[in-house]
Amino acid sequence: MSSLIATSVSGLVEAVRQVTRRPSNWPEAADRVAGVLDRRLPSGAEVLAGLTTDPLTGVPGQDPARVRSQVLHVEPDGSFSVVALILRPGQETEIHDHVTWCAVAMIQGLEREERFVLEEPGNGTPGRLRSAGLSLSRPGEICAFAPPGDIHRVTNVGSGPSISINVYGTDVARVGSSVRRVYAEPEE
Ligand SMILES: [Fe+2]
Repeated sequence: MSSLIATSVSGLVEAVRQVTRRPSNWPEAADRVAGVLDRRLPSGAEVLAGLTTDPLTGVPGQDPARVRSQVLHVEPDGSFSVVALILRPGQETEIHDHVTWCAVAMIQGLEREERFVLEEPGNGTPGRLRSAGLSLSRPGEICAFAPPGDIHRVTNVGSGPSISINVYGTDVARVGSSVRRVYAEPEE
């Protein structure tokens, strides 16, 4: 990671540090962080300039097979991480949920978020995934969520790269991913 991008999120990191010092449950932590996420967000250009070279392609941020995530900061005590998620036009995440709470700020582009709920299993049948609405997210929009009930899929529906800044309540480098599970497309 370049020192430029580390510097560009230093104010944000300090603000998150302040509001996560006090003990809280996941929804409270996510809301508190969302409340300070508009402070000193990096620009899209700063994030793109700070991408490390992709080991598969040798080109920064150009691995076409997967959503690009760039860890911008991991708090030394493991209490939170700051990650930029970058999607190419038309690219989408898998349907997934998360290992911990998250606060998200869009900083570039246009994304569509589809939400899903997992219906309770019953009478010997497994739980079924059901669509639960969608919304568009533009730069300046901030949201917070905490498991359970956090199953979603994000698609870049704009004409250029979309970038969001995500704060997760864990050390994503150590855990390996913010994703807890992925889900198959729900049947109609
Ligand atoms: Fe997600």
